[in-house]
Amino acid sequence: MTATVAKSPEFFDGLVLGVETSCDETSAAVVRNGLDLLSVVVSSQIDEHARFGGVVPEIASRAHLENLQPVIRGALGQAGIEMRDVDAVAVTNGPGLAGALLVGIAGAKALALAIDVPMVAVNHLEGHLFASLLSGQEVELPAIALLVSGGHTMLVVIRDWGDYLVVGSTLDDAAGEAFDKVGRYLDLGFPGGPAMEKAACDGNPAAYDLPRAMLRDGYDFSFSGLKTAVVNAVEAQNSSGDALSVPDMAASFQEAVIEVLAVKAIKAAVDFGSTNVLVGGGVAANGRLRSRLTEAGEEAGVRILVSPRELCTDNAAMIASAGAFRLAKSGASPLSTGAAPSLRAPFVLAQESRAARGSRE
Ligand code: KG4
Ligand code: ZN
Repeated sequence: MTATVAKSPEFFDGLVLGVETSCDETSAAVVRNGLDLLSVVVSSQIDEHARFGGVVPEIASRAHLENLQPVIRGALGQAGIEMRDVDAVAVTNGPGLAGALLVGIAGAKALALAIDVPMVAVNHLEGHLFASLLSGQEVELPAIALLVSGGHTMLVVIRDWGDYLVVGSTLDDAAGEAFDKVGRYLDLGFPGGPAMEKAACDGNPAAYDLPRAMLRDGYDFSFSGLKTAVVNAVEAQNSSGDALSVPDMAASFQEAVIEVLAVKAIKAAVDFGSTNVLVGGGVAANGRLRSRLTEAGEEAGVRILVSPRELCTDNAAMIASAGAFRLAKSGASPLSTGAAPSLRAPFVLAQESRAARGSRE
């Protein structure tokens, strides 16, 4: 097994304005030299979507249009700079909602043209990965990244900065999606993740025996059976005549999801010879996930680098940081860059990588 080596990404030197509009948060941020966070402003549309129980794409696009300019002005003001001081503009171009992405991309292009600076397109998930670097810790490569959001659940081997092999992903629901669906089922509102965590604080995680799908079976995940198990357990409880304890159910569900995430992340680290696991995405804001991973990491001799809590959910600081990396690595993106709702690159699936190697051999 090869030793791990401390290696920081190289970043573009200068002020990068980040723009993020891939889902239901309109955000802008200013980052200097990749990791020095000067400002971040996030305008959440949760109230506008909550009564529908989920994100409504048309409402998201319209709200981004209304919020983008004030959010950018806010980020520049908080950083104490003017638009003309910005050296580059970074924007999420996927994955995400097509109409929502387009608003940010059009805004970023217009700004870059107006002040004559480069524009760089960023994969939202690479942004989540870079959020864990904003805690200021040095990373040893190869490292593992656990990316857990509303749309994705992935285990990635970071062979080098920008060289990412996806070794595991969800076969059905993403972890955040499962939190949201079960939260809605338990009448805890939208988004379910934070509401479930709050409810779980007063609950017993061992109260309900819920399944841990594929726990010792590779690096892929499956959460849809867990959701069905919650529905079955609630129905059984109701027909028994005893009142359902929502805190107990929330805690039992949370524990089942977290145990699978923690066990697989540590297994990947051990199997791929990594001593560092980076954790990012909205679900990484969960306090129990953070503490469980840290405990499991200590036992296995693996260092866990979790994104600062406020930078786990969608924000533009992570996009500005990843953008500064992309600019240094591959230069500016053409102004013809469009929205890529199903964008995968630079993440490569392990199967594809094997197939590509096979066809060359
Ligand atoms: O990364 P993110 O802001 O958006 C996507 O890229 O999808 O993640 C949002 C997801 C939602 O499913 C939300 O319920 C979940 O992250 N989430 C949480 C917590 N905070 C946000 N899940 C569990 N516990 C939390 N505290
Ligand atoms: Zn996200």
